[in-house]
Amino acid sequence: MAGSQWWQHGIVYQIYPRSFQDSNGDGIGDLTGIRQRLDYLAWLGIDAIWISPFYPSPMADFGYDIADYCGIDPMFGTLEDFDRLLADVHARGMKLILDFVPNHSSSEHPWFKESRSSRDDPKRDWYIWRDPAPDGEPPNNWLANFGGPAWTFDAATGQYYYHAFLPEQPDLNWRSPQVREAMCDVLRFWLDRGVDGFRVDVIWHLMKDEQFRDNPPNPGWHPGMPSIDRLLQHYSCDRPDIHDVVAQMRAVLDSYPERVLIGEIYLPLERLVAYYGEQLEGAHLPFNFQLIFAAWKAEEIARIVAEYEAALPAGGWPNWVLSNHDQKRIATRVGVAEARIAAMLLLTLRGTPTLYYGSEVGLEDVPIPADRVQDPWEKNEPGLGFGRDPARTPMPWAPGHAAGFTTGTPWLPLNADCQERNVERLKADDRSILCLYRRLIQLRRTEPALDRGAYVHAHVEGDLFAYERRHGDRRLLVGLNFGHNPQTLTLPADAAGGRVLLSTHLDREGAMVAQTVALRPAEGLIVALDG
Ligand code: GLC
Ligand code: CA
Repeated sequence: MAGSQWWQHGIVYQIYPRSFQDSNGDGIGDLTGIRQRLDYLAWLGIDAIWISPFYPSPMADFGYDIADYCGIDPMFGTLEDFDRLLADVHARGMKLILDFVPNHSSSEHPWFKESRSSRDDPKRDWYIWRDPAPDGEPPNNWLANFGGPAWTFDAATGQYYYHAFLPEQPDLNWRSPQVREAMCDVLRFWLDRGVDGFRVDVIWHLMKDEQFRDNPPNPGWHPGMPSIDRLLQHYSCDRPDIHDVVAQMRAVLDSYPERVLIGEIYLPLERLVAYYGEQLEGAHLPFNFQLIFAAWKAEEIARIVAEYEAALPAGGWPNWVLSNHDQKRIATRVGVAEARIAAMLLLTLRGTPTLYYGSEVGLEDVPIPADRVQDPWEKNEPGLGFGRDPARTPMPWAPGHAAGFTTGTPWLPLNADCQERNVERLKADDRSILCLYRRLIQLRRTEPALDRGAYVHAHVEGDLFAYERRHGDRRLLVGLNFGHNPQTLTLPADAAGGRVLLSTHLDREGAMVAQTVALRPAEGLIVALDG
């Protein structure tokens, strides 16, 4: 059945809702805005939309601090707006994936307010409360993401609570059966409404060491690295008992037809693939972020693909991610010209691709002036380049005020070149990166070799990375020139010749190819092989 599920052959598109389309002039994107842009997404050809959180939230971490798991923040709209969006997504044959944030709630969630109200409260153990160490200090040495200790003292009840992220994001206690049941009910609430799956936030964080042992120091830490990395997260996440929890979520999804469970997991490969579950009872797609951290070299990329293919459990479906709302944009990491190679790589590898909004127009990170910084990480650890605002700027749609994103003042500045680099302009330029993305997506939708074919004959020669995707008799050769010099792509000896299906430069489609074909700097080709 490999490749037959929608989430195996489909392409996922991530929307950061604050930045996609504003419909009411407040400068912040919303659900109705997304609904207004569905025709664009259908034109682009994606299959599923994953939307970052839009639930009621004090926005300490821009929606990843949830005060009500079963509602919509008024900033983004109403449940009726959500239902309309879902219906319109489905009407176009697309799927909708929600962001589920089970590791922590907002400190404003009624559950936490009850929990902190007294040591005897029935919800006390819904969160992680510990007595101070004998000297009054936190219970252990764990550190928080975004800076500072992971424990905050609550003077009223004399205990500390644990938060892997901001103090405004207390961690839920997943050892409590009531917490698990309440969170499974949240999944059911949205599944009953008709959503097609979830991307689960920091899923590897849910279980912590039962004894709360100190994390060991990280010998590789140096100033300039995030302060959390002073310690290895040995006891605070990726504990062996996490896999039962993932399986429990999966079982909820499996009681509905055709739903997908995606896990956000930043772990080394061998620990990442464990999240498929021993019997594939875990996440359908543990997010594979390796391309985000790879040096942009043919050899390195080829090695990563080979290791990943080899590490996958039997029946485990691969997936690839180039960027997301927490990372530098791909065009900034590798270069604007190289972003085209990245697009061809993402859409020709074996496995479900996830595309981050704006990549398709070649959006780069946007420098954010100090007085417009929004991200709490940048505020807590300023000037070190950890801030995520630059990769979260509004989508540029068309020439004109705020590039069509809003009639008001956008919550973050747009790209300086937004009057040229926008959907409307690039759509009209048939050699643009946007048109390249669309052609790649169309090709992937029409060529089973690309969406479910075998990945074979990978090899590297200098800056050239080449591989074949094969389905039945259909053989597609992909050649990617990662370098700044021309390269020669040689067809396999058993191929009589070939025809160019697509070049990243969009100027030689249909050309016939004999034994060899020259690749220009930063050019990628997809060649259909004869014989
Ligand atoms: C995930 C999200 C990130 C958020 C964090 C805390 O890593 O992707 O944006 O800040 O979890 O929820
Ligand atoms: Ca709005």
